[in-house]
Amino acid sequence: ANKLVLTVVVLGASGDLAKKKTFPALFTLFRKGFLPKNLKLIGYARSKLSNEDLHGKIKDYLKGDDKTKDEFLSRVSYVPGSYDGDEGFQGLEKVLEEREKEFEGAPLGRLFYLALPPSVYPQVCAGLKKNCANIKMAGKDSWLRLVIEKPFGMDLKTSEELADKLGELFPEEQLYRIDHYLGKELMQNMLVLRFANQFLSPTWHRNFISNVQICFKEPFGTEGRGGYFDEFGIIRDVMQNHLTQILALLAMEQPVTLSADDIRDEKVRVLRALSPVALEDTVLGQYTAGGDTKAYLDDETVPKGSKTPTFATCVMRIHNERWEGVPWIMKAGKALNERKVEIRVQYKPPAASIHGEVIDQMRNELVLRLQPDEAIYMKIVVKKPGLEMESIVSELDLSYKQRYGDTYIPDAYERLILDAIRGDQQHFVRRDELRAAWAAFTPLLHAIDRGEAEPQEYPAGSRGPPASDILVSKAGFVKNANYLWKGKNSG
Ligand code: BG6
Repeated sequence: ANKLVLTVVVLGASGDLAKKKTFPALFTLFRKGFLPKNLKLIGYARSKLSNEDLHGKIKDYLKGDDKTKDEFLSRVSYVPGSYDGDEGFQGLEKVLEEREKEFEGAPLGRLFYLALPPSVYPQVCAGLKKNCANIKMAGKDSWLRLVIEKPFGMDLKTSEELADKLGELFPEEQLYRIDHYLGKELMQNMLVLRFANQFLSPTWHRNFISNVQICFKEPFGTEGRGGYFDEFGIIRDVMQNHLTQILALLAMEQPVTLSADDIRDEKVRVLRALSPVALEDTVLGQYTAGGDTKAYLDDETVPKGSKTPTFATCVMRIHNERWEGVPWIMKAGKALNERKVEIRVQYKPPAASIHGEVIDQMRNELVLRLQPDEAIYMKIVVKKPGLEMESIVSELDLSYKQRYGDTYIPDAYERLILDAIRGDQQHFVRRDELRAAWAAFTPLLHAIDRGEAEPQEYPAGSRGPPASDILVSKAGFVKNANYLWKGKNSG
């Protein structure tokens, strides 16, 4: 790997994703010494920019000292070109060949990162295939890979159309579909946690588990991103992808090995066992003004009178031997009361309690908090210390900051880009996974698009529409009695 001559081409180099995520992640990998010594980066976009113009656009987003930033930027050049036709890509190919020709026989790596709207993927991939995919003088172990990111279509049909078009150009092994949630620390931990702990594995089953919640909360609204958001809505924006990937890793059977395809085979199997979400198992919301946040409909980038949901709760069902009858509750919303992404696996109460009725409201709950402040904790029922015999809920707590101190937790994009460079597809979404995830949501999305469900209003900064809490408790979630997370007690 040390001999690899690596060129990363960031298409859409001056856009938001490239500036805020792609280049900063590449920079951190560079600064920490994870990238090959022989590294060049090329920004590609339509505007006429100089190298310095591009450096100016990205520099402020890089985190590190000035000297390292300058070293990094000295490897970044810019090539202007269009996203259709051949001319731009021929120009790009010239620069690539020029760079690579002095390393004849060495392993070459070309990573094309498409920080672009998916509407141009087909033409860009066609241009790359025709003009930039024939690596000349490539030694053995040379490769070419493309990183692409959602939205992959609007529903099952359009996603499949896009996948067909890309599939005609590049085989699955060259396509790296990013779902950045798969790069988050706790998601990476999931298979270890689930399959290396004998106290968990046997109870991970409908016989013991009452319900599972996957919850995504953001405290801010669309903030000028309303144009994009309004076309998609919260279900397409985070549920069909990020939260569904979480569900797959939580619910899947143990893979035969940790190879990328063995893992993804199991994810697909469980995703295919999802029944399509029903309208009656759904609560939609749209935020009105609250605190400093103006109403969704008052965002200038949002079309007047839009019915797009900014909040949704869906109760999902997995039809297989392990999960039959267990509700999987997904909740996602913008402009809520806090920033938090967490998973709550709630167990059933003991069958024959000798500790009184309240025990039913004291459930074991395994909580995985993805952000902020990564934590894994298990709520357990214990005797309240003291002379009285009283049961309370406490916790076995693995809070990462306390336990691992200053250990650096990599950003999701850093991890995933490094995987793409190393050729590990384990944490990238395979086409059949994507298809199964869309199949679970498409009937609901079509019903919403036809206007069969209206979002309920909720003030920005609240917990979302009250109907959501009702749906969640109807699905079987029990709020623990007299329980306060210790962080709250100590302020
Ligand atoms: C993106 C969505 O995929 O994920 C955004 O498009 C959302 O709307 C974001 O804000 C959340 O990612 P993170 O890593 O900040 O939780």
